[in-house]
Amino acid sequence: GKRIRPRLVWAFAHCLEHPPPQLPLLDLAVAAELIHSGSLLHDDVLDQGQMRRGRETVNVRWGNTVAVLAGDMMLVRALGLLREHPAEISATAVETVASMTEAVISEVESRGRLELSPEHWRRIAAGKTGALFAWCGRAVALLAGEPCVAADLARCGRALGIAFQLADDLIDLVGRRSGKTRYSDLKNRELSYPILVAAAHSAGDRAAISALWKMDPPTDDAVREVGQRLLAGVALPRTVHQISRELTGALEALGPRRDRPGGLLIDRWARKLGAQFIEPTLAAAKER
Ligand code: IPE
Ligand code: IPE
Ligand code: MG
Ligand code: MG
Repeated sequence: GKRIRPRLVWAFAHCLEHPPPQLPLLDLAVAAELIHSGSLLHDDVLDQGQMRRGRETVNVRWGNTVAVLAGDMMLVRALGLLREHPAEISATAVETVASMTEAVISEVESRGRLELSPEHWRRIAAGKTGALFAWCGRAVALLAGEPCVAADLARCGRALGIAFQLADDLIDLVGRRSGKTRYSDLKNRELSYPILVAAAHSAGDRAAISALWKMDPPTDDAVREVGQRLLAGVALPRTVHQISRELTGALEALGPRRDRPGGLLIDRWARKLGAQFIEPTLAAAKER
C-alpha cells in the first residue's frame, strides 16, 4: 500500500509549531492505516475485488470469511490502540468508522444509478474516504492539545480525501499502475465521478453505459470499448478540473501552515496527485 494516511498524520503534525511526540503520533498513524486496510478487506468482499496492491485480494485467496473477520479485527485493533490517548481521539475515530460505513451503505444503494448528481457522489466520497483523511488532521491537533486547529486540519484532510477518491475513480478508467483491475468500476456498476459526468454530459455515453450495464455479466471487450469511449469525452478533463478544485480548497484550509515543513509536504503531494493526469489528458486531446 501507499501508506498515504500515516504519511498524512506525519505531515499534519509538522504543520504545527509544536508537533506531538513521535510515539503517540505513531499510534495515530498505525490506527489510520489499520482502519483503512480493514475497510479495503471489506470493500473487496462487497465489490468482489480480484486484485489489490498487485496481488490477489484476501477474499480471492482465502475467501470472504477470512476477509470479513480480518477486516473486523483490524478495525477493533485500531480502536484499541487509541484507548490510551485523549478520549476525544477515540470518540472521533468511532465517528469516522461510522461515517465510512454509512457512506458505503449509500454507495451500495447507488450502484448502477447513472442519474445521480455529482453532489451525491461527493457526499459519499466525503464519507468513505474524506472522513478518515479528515480524522488524521483532527486527531493530530487533539493529540497536540490544539483543539482550535482541529477543524482546519480536518477540513484540509477531507478535501484531500475527496481529491484522492476522484483520482482513484479516474485511475480506474485511465489504467495506471494501481495494482487493481482496470475498469472495475465500469464493470461493477460502481458510482464513479467520471462515469457520472460522462452520463450527464453525453446522451451517447449514457446509452453506451446503460447498454453495458444491462449485460450480465458485461464482457471484458465491451467494458474496454465503453471505457475508451468515455476517455475520449469530457469525463477526463472534468474530473481533473474537479481534483484541482478540491486540492485548492484543501491547501486554503491549511492557511499559513502551508509554509511549515508539513504544509510543504502536503503541497508537494497535492501537486503530484493532479500532475499524474497531465499526460493522459494531452493524449486524449490529441486523439480528438
Ligand atoms: C484505495 O486506497 C481506496 C480509496 C480510498 C480510493 P489507497 O489507494 O490508499 O490504497 P493502498 O493502501 O495504497 O493500497
Ligand atoms: C474506497 O473506494 C473504499 C473505501 C474507503 C472503503 P473504492 O471502492 O473506490 O476503492 P477501490 O477502488 O476498490 O480501492
Ligand atoms: Mg472497491
Ligand atoms: Mg476505486
